[in-house]
Amino acid sequence: MMAPRGAFIVFEGLDRSGKTTQVQRLVQRLEADGRAVRLQKFPDRTTSIGRMIDSYLQTKSDLDDRAIHLLFSANRWECANAIERDLAQGVTVIADRYGFSGIAFSAAKGLPFSFCLQPDTGLPLPDSVIYLTVNPEVAASRAAYGLERYETKDIQTRVRERFDEVANEVQRRHGNIWHTIDASGSVDDVQEKVWAAVTSTLNADFPSMGRLWM
Ligand code: TMP
Repeated sequence: MMAPRGAFIVFEGLDRSGKTTQVQRLVQRLEADGRAVRLQKFPDRTTSIGRMIDSYLQTKSDLDDRAIHLLFSANRWECANAIERDLAQGVTVIADRYGFSGIAFSAAKGLPFSFCLQPDTGLPLPDSVIYLTVNPEVAASRAAYGLERYETKDIQTRVRERFDEVANEVQRRHGNIWHTIDASGSVDDVQEKVWAAVTSTLNADFPSMGRLWM
């Protein structure tokens, strides 16, 4: 009998939502539970496309808004085969950001929503998207934003609005795969909410892998 496929779980969130900490904790917890897990960060800055994205984010280079949008998407496509291969082999793949960030950030800059969606059409569809939100007061009380391109309050506010539209579109096209988690509490409290959402996905009978926006 073939091994059941692995689950594909995506984390999204604003800066200072504690996303990276939560993802790392989750991976450790799943491993301790005896599961094969792989963490995939997007953007994956280790590839040649990823290095162009990194240079853009660090404002060492400038690119047209559409061009950088397509590079972020190309960066996902160049990793898509490895994700599918791992899932088929029963590995749980956890992605730290995915195409939903791609849409929210580019739409926040003014690109049309339909343009933002298009290049990701057909990518592996996650079984679950865990979106960590923090209210602006809590975000403001956490460590200062870093130095990367989008780390300003104004941009983050617009991105947050766009994420709500992305969540609606996901619901319309793909049903109940989007879980919004309030990440204002302590790291432990938030981890418990994350764990509940993840285990409900892992315990469900997830279907054969779908395709994003199809
Ligand atoms: P990171 O801080 O999680 O490494 O993400 C880098 C930045 O890139 C973050 O501000 C979100 C942004 N981003 C996009 O604009 N488009 C995308 O497709 C992705 C994955 C991230």
